[in-house]
Amino acid sequence: MASYLITGCAGFIGSHLTEKLLEQGNYVVGIDNFDSFYGRSIKERNLSTALKMQNFTFYELDLKNAEALNKIEDRVDVIIHLAAKAGVLPSLKDPIAYINDNIIATQNLLNFCKERAIKKFIFASSSSIYGNNKSIPFRETDSVEQPISTYAATKKACELLTHTAHHLYKTDVINLRFFTVFGPRQRPDLAIHKFVKLIDEGKEIAMYGDGSTGRDYTFVNDTVQGIIGACQYIHDNSSVYEIVNLGNNQPVKLSELIATIEKVMNKKAAIKQMAMQPGDVDITFAGIEKAKKLFGYSPATSLEEGISHFVKWYNEQKA
Ligand SMILES: NC(=O)c1ccc[n+]([C@@H]2O[C@H](COP(=O)([O-])OP(=O)(O)OC[C@H]3O[C@@H](n4cnc5c(N)ncnc54)[C@H](O)[C@@H]3O)[C@@H](O)[C@H]2O)c1
Repeated sequence: MASYLITGCAGFIGSHLTEKLLEQGNYVVGIDNFDSFYGRSIKERNLSTALKMQNFTFYELDLKNAEALNKIEDRVDVIIHLAAKAGVLPSLKDPIAYINDNIIATQNLLNFCKERAIKKFIFASSSSIYGNNKSIPFRETDSVEQPISTYAATKKACELLTHTAHHLYKTDVINLRFFTVFGPRQRPDLAIHKFVKLIDEGKEIAMYGDGSTGRDYTFVNDTVQGIIGACQYIHDNSSVYEIVNLGNNQPVKLSELIATIEKVMNKKAAIKQMAMQPGDVDITFAGIEKAKKLFGYSPATSLEEGISHFVKWYNEQKA
């Protein structure tokens, strides 16, 4: 049993991770500011199961405000930093907000880590950091010097800041690069959620590009399994600084994604083809050998199975 601080605990991935660590008997301190990127009521619902559990303490606070972190009284062994403004396109419209919520907030948390002598730090990075990488699958050793969105650039900056903390304060760090996570509670701005909602409502869906772009969709339970594997690894080892992909190793074309959603929903989509959006990469494809080797990571959920879970959740929460 360990004590975890999870930032972004009311979000999509954070709420699943929080519940899993609580179920396993760990103590969890959760932080979230209910950022307005999407509705507060959705995040409150995400958090409702965790809030009923005794081994959970929640702080509504904003990581941009360093002093707010002084409210935390609990002892913490490991920080899992998931809080961020996510999303590529909105980061082009408001880059300063992304710099504040992603970079400034992360440095505040690293300072907190140092002040409280917390030695283990896991950070949620992103596949978008690879930009339009030509070599596939993407490997952790590939150059990531050419991000094509502000969002990706903030994630790269945070990976650099975690390295500095590792060097100066001997903080053990794992940067996990997530690849298009999906499943129940998925953010409403992401493709699968948007498509299912629009198809359900009989509305047109926008397909950006000709349908040939590929994404390495990863089911949220598999991502959570990978994060917990990283927790075990960072607990068992010292002098750790690692960057590790957590993807599915099976990119799916956008046209194939839409066909799978149609099959699961048993409903045809009305598709409107649009130009590719700025900041969007052509393909994401995770090499996951390192995650397998270090954490025993082994994603097990097929796209169709994962979409079925999502559609079931979507129908339940809509009712
Ligand atoms: N979902 C994906 O496909 C994906 C892919 C790659 C990386 N990631 C990263 O994983 C993490 C979680 O993603 P998600 O999809 O669950 O996003 P999410 O938006 O559902 O969750 C993020 C949470 O962080 C909170 N937050 C934002 N700024 C904050 C601040 N300043 N202080 C406190 N809380 C704050 C938000 O309110 C939200 O609840 C993010 O860092 C994201 O960049 C996600």
